[in-house]
Amino acid sequence: MKTIAVMSPKGGIGKTTTADSIAYILGEEQGKRVLILDGDPQGDTSKTFGCHETAETGMSRLLECHACTGGECHTSELIWTTAYPHIDMIPANGYLVRTDLNLMISQEGNQVTRLKEALAEVAGEYDYCICDCGRLFDMVVVNILVASELVIAPIKVGGYENEAIKSLCEQVEDLRQINPDLRVKGILTMRQKNKTSLEFEEYLHTASGIEMFKAPIRRSIMAEKATIAMAAVPAFARRGIVAQDYRDIVRELLEDMEG
Ligand SMILES: Nc1ncnc2c1ncn2[C@@H]1O[C@H](COP(=O)(O)OP(=O)(O)OP(=O)(O)O)[C@@H](O)[C@H]1O
Ligand SMILES: [Mg+2]
Repeated sequence: MKTIAVMSPKGGIGKTTTADSIAYILGEEQGKRVLILDGDPQGDTSKTFGCHETAETGMSRLLECHACTGGECHTSELIWTTAYPHIDMIPANGYLVRTDLNLMISQEGNQVTRLKEALAEVAGEYDYCICDCGRLFDMVVVNILVASELVIAPIKVGGYENEAIKSLCEQVEDLRQINPDLRVKGILTMRQKNKTSLEFEEYLHTASGIEMFKAPIRRSIMAEKATIAMAAVPAFARRGIVAQDYRDIVRELLEDMEG
């Protein structure tokens, strides 16, 4: 199982849209077995895949009560099926904020490696694990980054956004002490066809020092409409430009991960 985090310290930049779209295309179009982890207390990806509930759910129990921490839970007990045959999920909700705090004050040695240990239990059952992250480097997200081999970082045109991805790269550099092979690969999202946007794209590919996916994701109202319908974009607007662009990303991802 290859574990991929979708993370940026910038809010509203397309993390969830990217995680949902990649997971959907890998699972329902490419026939891969996909596990989605929700690492954001907003629970947006849990909502997209119909797995949101208010009681304490999957990710919190996985991080707080798993057998690898002396608890009673095993990973497979916390996995939900979705309406999509190739996609399962471990959901999250607002309780994840408390999980972060509980992890921070925990004195146990596997504070940042327990997700990796818990996922090892189901590694043979999935081809890909796609993790949607919140925008904070909290203990939940650090657990995800320690368990991942690739961080996909959405970025859109703008100076603050550019600073955010640089800060992500610095944090990943620090985490390489624990996870030496962790890589970051950027995706330009919400690209428009104006001079500023095209110049920014050129800068990302030539001078930013950030490894980028070749294809950008174009801006389209269909992405917003998909969130209103609580659906992944390629499920909602199969032929739309955003779905097409994410298919290009998945093609490149498969070449990258599987050769
Ligand atoms: N390619 C796109 N074109 C137009 N709108 C987009 C595109 N991608 C995402 N959006 C919209 O931008 C908004 C933010 O996207 P999303 O929720 O994926 O970001 P996020 O980084 O996960 O946010 P948060 O930091 O709150 O978790 C949503 O309304 C989404 O529909
Ligand atoms: Mg999100």
